Amino acid sequence: MSGKITFTMIKPDAVAKGHTGKIIDHVIQKGYKLVAMKYTRLSEEKAGEFYAIHRERPFFKDLIAFMTSGPIVAAVLEKENAVADYRNVIGATDPAKAEVGTIRNLYAKSIDANAVHGSDSDENAAIEAAFFFNGFERF
Ligand code: CMP
Repeated sequence: MSGKITFTMIKPDAVAKGHTGKIIDHVIQKGYKLVAMKYTRLSEEKAGEFYAIHRERPFFKDLIAFMTSGPIVAAVLEKENAVADYRNVIGATDPAKAEVGTIRNLYAKSIDANAVHGSDSDENAAIEAAFFFNGFERF
């Protein structure tokens, strides 16, 4: 039976520190199937589009500067209850509040450099996955 999807990014801090392989393994161990994956770098324009809902927030400028500071890994993950379960796998946005054993607890240092992104709804998972991948790049 095929499950629902969520979208994730391994952010520039985690990629730069060499955590990519450990994070991908962590996600697979939690029962997710990788259905698409891409190593890339966001332009300012692309990052602004991806984070458009945060445009008016005080942290927007720093968020865009950080997300364009180095390469990222974008991926689409499939599993039953993919979105909600993945939020538990990655932990709270602020790593200081992330539960022990979550990806942000293990690999993140600050609320900006928080290692990974995870979709917050099924609707956004579909939008975010389509932002990075076309139908032919998902398996
Ligand atoms: P992410 O889930 O990728 O989406 C927006 C990002 O903004 C978030 O992760 C954080 O890394 C970053 N951010 C910085 N400050 C805040 C804040 N006060 N609240 C929420 N997100 C923040």
